[in-house]
Amino acid sequence: MNLRSIVPWLAGSLLMAGALGGAVADESDAPQRDYQVPLPEAPAGEATFQPPAEADIPDTPYGDMVRLGRDLFLDTQRLRDEYVFNDQNCSNCHLDAGRLANSAPMWASVGMYPAYRGKNDKVNTMAERIQGCFTYSMNGIPPEYGSEPLVALQTYFHWLATGAPINESLPGRGYPGLEEPAQAPDRGRGAELFAERCAICHGDGGQGQTVGERQVFPPLWGDGAYNWGAGMHRVNTAANFIKANMPLGQPYSLSDQQAWDLAAFINGHERPQDPRRRTLKSVDETDRIFHQHMGYYGDTVDGHRLGDHDDYGENPGAE
Ligand code: HEC
Ligand code: HEC
Repeated sequence: MNLRSIVPWLAGSLLMAGALGGAVADESDAPQRDYQVPLPEAPAGEATFQPPAEADIPDTPYGDMVRLGRDLFLDTQRLRDEYVFNDQNCSNCHLDAGRLANSAPMWASVGMYPAYRGKNDKVNTMAERIQGCFTYSMNGIPPEYGSEPLVALQTYFHWLATGAPINESLPGRGYPGLEEPAQAPDRGRGAELFAERCAICHGDGGQGQTVGERQVFPPLWGDGAYNWGAGMHRVNTAANFIKANMPLGQPYSLSDQQAWDLAAFINGHERPQDPRRRTLKSVDETDRIFHQHMGYYGDTVDGHRLGDHDDYGENPGAE
């Protein structure tokens, strides 16, 4: 994909959306399904829904499962080397334990599944949506249906949504969409801003920071980061997230253009290979089938073709 101008990029995506259906359907060795398509835009307006307070988690076996789900969401590293193979926790991208509006909160999500998703042409359950974030955002292996982590996470999200309507998109869902930038996103401007506003926490090399064993600021690229299949690697999704959530504690302090430039800078770096590449012939094929959106996968940046490697981070693969 080319980032020089965003308009051909968008036009290309639309064209490919049609081509894609055919490409996937005709494939005898059909690639893994794409769970990481952008969420539909949430309705405008102030997020008014309030999830229940932690203190209200009941002291029952049900409550124990809610607490386990909360704990796994905040400290997903407990599942390291089994289901998680990078340095992330769910709450890195779903802030305040999945409670914060405009940070893809779980209370706004749970009532929207099962949902039909055109990209994989089937009805997806909440469990499948969670599994998608394990595969890509956590560079992991998804917990099996009925496994304790999956049940616990789902129970926690369901509890957070106590009193929320079902099948009704609520304001505050997802990350709020930005307008197209006035100027094409620029990695150079992004690099300067990153040094000024972000490196203090995420490190000069985007490597994040740990205190002892504990990761306190997540890495944004490299082996510890989300992989090339994750929603956050799309420049538009990262720009939306950044505008509403970063720098931490100063939401909406960046201009839209700054958020776009930062997203381009961050996502113009290497990260673990897209796991769907394992079942496809080449980077070109992976790019053609799964990367017709605003991302740098398969693009040459500073003389290096991004994603052209066999580095899956620490993930050993399914078998
Ligand atoms: C690196 C960032 C990142 C991490 C870590 C992450 N996610 Fe996500 N998650 C996303 C993005 C991006 C989306 C899609 C948002 C969009 O497209 O607008 C998403 C969407 C979701 C959704 C659907 C939201 C909705 O409203 O439909 C669920 C559920 C979810 N994630 C659960 C999880 C769980 C559980 C974990 C931990 C196992 C996790 N995520 C870890 C970035 C992340
Ligand atoms: C004060 C420290 C701090 C600063 C400054 C900061 N961040 Fe973060 N950032 C965090 C923390 C902490 C998280 C994880 C959120 C959580 O766990 O609550 C995070 C999460 C993220 C994520 C989620 C993706 C992932 O892989 O986990 C992105 C992207 C990000 N920050 C980008 C930025 C950008 C861009 C800037 C500069 C504009 C910035 N951050 C400035 C602390 C910071």
